[in-house]
Amino acid sequence: MSIKIHFEGLFHDPWTETIPESLTKNAFNQLVNKTGKGNEFLGWLDIPDQMTQANIEEIQNCADRLSAQSEIVVLIGIGGSYLGARAVIEALQNPFNLMKEGETPKIIYAGHHISEDYLHHLLQLLNHKSYSLIVISKSGTTTEPALAFRILKEHCEKKYGMEESQKRIVAITDASRGALKQLANKNNYQTFVIPDDVGGRYSVLTAVGLLPIAIAGFNIEQLIAGAAKMKEELFQNDDPNSNTAMQYALYRNLLYQSGKKIELVVAYEPELFYFIEWFKQLYGESDGKEGRGLFPAGAIFSTDLHSLGQYIQEGERHLFETVISVEKSQFKVAIPYDEENLDGLNYLQYRSIHEINQIAEEGTRQAHISGGVPNIRIQIPEINEQHLGEMIFFFEMSCALGGYLMDINPFNQPGVEAYKQQMFKLLGKPM
Ligand code: PA5
Repeated sequence: MSIKIHFEGLFHDPWTETIPESLTKNAFNQLVNKTGKGNEFLGWLDIPDQMTQANIEEIQNCADRLSAQSEIVVLIGIGGSYLGARAVIEALQNPFNLMKEGETPKIIYAGHHISEDYLHHLLQLLNHKSYSLIVISKSGTTTEPALAFRILKEHCEKKYGMEESQKRIVAITDASRGALKQLANKNNYQTFVIPDDVGGRYSVLTAVGLLPIAIAGFNIEQLIAGAAKMKEELFQNDDPNSNTAMQYALYRNLLYQSGKKIELVVAYEPELFYFIEWFKQLYGESDGKEGRGLFPAGAIFSTDLHSLGQYIQEGERHLFETVISVEKSQFKVAIPYDEENLDGLNYLQYRSIHEINQIAEEGTRQAHISGGVPNIRIQIPEINEQHLGEMIFFFEMSCALGGYLMDINPFNQPGVEAYKQQMFKLLGKPM
C-alpha cells in the first residue's frame, strides 16, 4: 500500500454523534455499485481501467505537436478545467524552469479570473514568444475562460493568420453542446471530449488534465497507472477499518460532527501548493451544501507557520489538520560544516534538508496536537507521477464517500450559479 494514513489527537473532543460502520459500508456500496446520488456523474471511476493505449497516444501526439511549435502553451480554463493539470504540473516541475532551448514549453494559465492587467502582461509576453492555446470548458459557456479565449484567439489569429492559428488551438469540451463546441467545429480545431458523466472537478485524468501534463513533459501513463492501482486497492476492500479512502471519509465526518468545522490541508513541500488548491476545489464544491460541510483551507509549512501558526496553536479550536507527508525528496542538499559556526548551525552539519523538514513536521504535529488540533497524516513515498495518480484517485473516491456519508450529492454545484446570475444581471447579459 503506497498511501498510508495515520490519525492522531482525534479524541480531544467528545463526539456529539457517531457514524456506525454500516453507514460507511453503505456509502461504499452506493459508490462502487453506482446507486447513490448523482450517479450520472460517476464516469471518473472507470477512467483508470478504461483508458486505452490509443487514447494515451492521441493525447501524447497532440502534446508533441503543440510542444514542437511552442515556447509557451496557454491553458485557458477555470475550476476543474485547470486545477488538476496545474496541481500535477507544479508538483513535478522544476520551479526554476526558465525555458531553455530543448526544454518543454512553459505552461501559462489564463481564464481563471478576470484581471485586465494579467491579460495585458500575457499579451505582451505572447508578442515575443511562439505559443499555442488549449481552451478547456465542459459547459463551453463559462464567462472567465470565454473572455480570455476571445482575446487570446484574436491575438493568435493576428500573429499567425487564420490557417496557422487553427493548428495552434486545441479545444477540450462537451461532445455536442455549448458555444465552445460550435467554435471548435467551425474553425476545425483539434478537439478532445470531456465525457458527459465526468464533472469538471473529477476530470483531471481525462484529456483536461492529461494533455497539459503531457506537454509539460510528464508521464501520463504512469499517472493513470497510479490511479488504476489505487482503484484496485480501494475497490477490493470494503472494510472501513483498513480501506484508507473510507477511513479518511469517516474521520473527516466524525471530526466535523465533533465541532471541527475547518480542515486545514497542509504540505511541507511548496510544489504541492496547487495540489492543495485542487483538493480545496474538489472538496469545497462537493461538500459545501445544504448549510453544512467542512470548510477546506490550505497551507504550506513551515512557511505558513510564520503567518497562521499562532492561530493554529492557540486560536479558536474549530480546525483539524490533514497533512500530505512526503517520505523521500528527489534530490539531496546537505548542510555544510562551517569552521566559524557564527550561525550556530554546526549541530546540524551533514544532515539533509529533507531530514530537517521531516523533523519540523513531526515537531509541529506534536505541538498542534497538544494545542487541540487533531491530525490526519496522508503519507506518500515520494512525489512522482505514480504517487500523484494514486493520491488523485484516493482523494476523489474519499470525497464521494464523504458526500454519501453526509447524504448529499457530491457531484453537483448548484451554489456556483448564484454569483453568475448576479454578475450577468449587472452586466446586462441578454437572457
Ligand atoms: O467542478 C466543476 O464542475 C467546476 O469547477 C467547473 O470545472 C468550472 O466551473 C468550470 O466549468 P466549465 O468547464 O464548464 O467551464
